[in-house]
This record gives sequence, C-alpha cells and structure tokens, in this order.
Amino acid sequence: MSAVIKEPEQHNRQALVSLRNLNKHYGDFTAVANINLNIQEGEFLTFLGSSGSGKSTTLAMLAGFETPSSGEIRYKEQSLIDVPPHKRGIGMVFQRYSLFPHLSVRDNIGFPLDIRKTASAERERRVTAMLKLVQLESFAHRRPAQLSGGQQQRVAIARALVYEPRILLMDEPLGALDKKLREELQDELRHLHRRLGLTIVYVTHDQEEAMRLSQRIAIFSHGKIVALGSSYELYQNPPNAFVASFLGNSNFLKLKTLNSTGASFEGQPLAIRETGALQADQDLLLMVRPEKALALSTEQARREPLPAGWNEISATVTEVLFLGDSQTCSVVTASGVNLSVKALSTAGMPLKAADPVRVRWAAANACVYTQWAESDLNKAPGTH
Ligand SMILES: Nc1ncnc2c1ncn2[C@@H]1O[C@H](COP(=O)(O)OP(=O)(O)O)[C@@H](O)[C@H]1O
Ligand SMILES: [Mg+2]
Repeated sequence: MSAVIKEPEQHNRQALVSLRNLNKHYGDFTAVANINLNIQEGEFLTFLGSSGSGKSTTLAMLAGFETPSSGEIRYKEQSLIDVPPHKRGIGMVFQRYSLFPHLSVRDNIGFPLDIRKTASAERERRVTAMLKLVQLESFAHRRPAQLSGGQQQRVAIARALVYEPRILLMDEPLGALDKKLREELQDELRHLHRRLGLTIVYVTHDQEEAMRLSQRIAIFSHGKIVALGSSYELYQNPPNAFVASFLGNSNFLKLKTLNSTGASFEGQPLAIRETGALQADQDLLLMVRPEKALALSTEQARREPLPAGWNEISATVTEVLFLGDSQTCSVVTASGVNLSVKALSTAGMPLKAADPVRVRWAAANACVYTQWAESDLNKAPGTH
C-alpha cells in the first residue's frame, strides 16, 4: 500500500524517463523543488495540482523549453539536459492550440514533417493516417477558424503525433473547452493512448479529468510531488491529509487518542484503524469519505444495532440535496463540526433539515493522520 509514495522502490523498475533532484528557481523563488519521478514506458501519467504548483514548469523542463536550475532528466539513462527540444522525441500540446491560421488542417498537421524535410510521399501517408486517427478526414482542407474548439484541439494532437514522438506532453489541452466536449475528448485521448501505446504526461488542475484519464497521478503542491499513485490508491488511501482533501470530497474529525485503536470525539470513544505508534492524548485527524458514511434517523438507529467495528456519532441535519444519481446530506455535530454524508438510509421517512441523525462508518474505512501535512509522507499513518 505504501507504494503510493515511496520513490526508492521505483528505482528498481526500468524507467523511460527519470527526473532526479530536479529544481527550478526564478530568482529566489522556487517553482520546482527537488522533484524525483520515474515515468514508465507506455503509461498515462498526470500532473495534478492547483495553479502555480509547478506542473507546467516541470513539463517545460521535460520538453526542453526551460532549463533546470539543477538536477537531471534522463531518457533511458541518457541525459537530456543538453539535448534541444526538437531532438528529444517529445511532442507537445498546449491549451492554446497554436495552429497556423493561414494553413489548412492538412498542412498544419504536416508542418512538423515539413521542417524535418520528410519526403512528400511519406508526408502524405503520415498526414492521412493522422487525419484518420483524429477523425478529421473530411475537414482536411479547412482553416482552423472554420473548426470548433474540439476539432482544433484534435488537429493540435494530430500535429504533435505526426512525427511519432516517443512521449506526448499535454499542458491543460482541454482547458478551454466546455464540459461535455472535454469529456468526449478525454475518452478519445484515453482510447488513443491505449491504441498507440504512447507514453503521455498530462497536466491538469481538474481532479475529475485526472481520474478519468490517468493510470497514475502525481499530485503537485508548492513545487513538490506530494503523492504519486493510481487514482484508486490515492483516493482510497491518501498518503496525507492534504491529498485526502485535494482529491475528492472528505470529512475531517479532530480526535484525541485513547490508545492505538481508540480515540475520542466530543467526549465519545471511537474505533480507529490500527495506526502504529500513537501516544495517549495525541491529536489526530480522522478522514471519512462522504460515501463511506451512513446517516440514519434516530429511530432507525435504535432498530439497527451498530455492526462490530463501526462508529456512530450524533448530529443534526442541516440540508439534504437531491443530485439525481445520489443524495447528499449535510449534518452538524454538537460541537459544530460539519460533515457531508452520501449514503442515506432509505427505509422509513426521508431525512430533512433539523432532524436528529446518527452518522455511522466502519473504522476500517476511515484514514487516520497525525497532522495536517503534505510533506510528512512516510510518517503519516494514513499510508497503511
Ligand atoms: N518565467 C517565470 N518567472 C518567474 N516565475 C515564474 C516563471 N514561470 C513560472 N513562474 C512561477 O512558478 C510557479 C509555478 O508555475 P507553473 O509551473 O506555471 O505552475 P502550474 O502550471 O502548476 O500552474 C508559479 O508561482 C509561477 O508564477
Ligand atoms: Mg500551468
């Protein structure tokens, strides 16, 4: 489980590209702080983080548009540091499509081959294959202005792929598109990745997009990678409280430990996961996902005994939201802690504002953290 973040274990696998102690400073500002990362051949890896967290700078160093202040970038053990961008075998797609307005779709896609002086028969063959790949054959003679945003982005993707780069880098490529189109292109990209077996490094600040696309996600914060793993691993077992709050919805309760498997909340004992070396009277954060918590009316809670290994606390409903495929119930505890609960018990009367409720969850489904830290990766008990 702790593979989520332990970098050293990764060294054992042959990486396609590895970033070693990579730093980028602008004056005395550190944009990228000592990043270590192995990119595996054929994977879809996403850099996810809020604006300014260092994602684009890291990608630009990989592409060769920015020079690292220190550190190494290796492609199959060979340093890329002194290799110019066009010799790195890397394709790049940006949010702004940067298509040439005066060139047709066909010529935009062919452009990278033209500057590489590819023979014309080969050029035609490759451009035609790309047009087919992104399903724009019937738009080949149009200019970019005559295309929708989604179509323009498909041209940009085709143009990045036409010279068969080993790695495709994409910096918020769908950021300018509306939600429905973005989701369509996300599906296309995922299929494209699967079909071509490409290595893709993708940048986004949108966690839903990251989860939809990626095999692995690297979460960036303040120039550092604070978590690395599959979306499943990161969501189910966030290595620290920051990641738990960043990826998906989460409820946090502040607890005081009683012993290694017990703690108290509002004076009431709760069961917690076995968490290693905890001292009595220690402050803990307990994280429960809204969909792992259950809200029951007091009457129903009386009828249904609490299963072994579960916790129950009292709260009052503040709001019930019907969201089509789910419902969300907001509750507040006696000391004023707000919680969000997805699973409502459907038996009996529906819950409504001001109803007293019992909120239940299995201790095994709640993560325990000793502090609100994004850096305390190996010590955070939630990693196990
Ligand atoms: N050329 C530059 N000069 C000074 N600061 C920069 C420069 N480029 C980026 N930065 C700063 O570095 C930080 C990381 O930027 P960036 O990698 O673009 O973040 P992200 O892509 O995650 O939004 C930001 O605070 C940004 O302002
Ligand atoms: Mg950026």
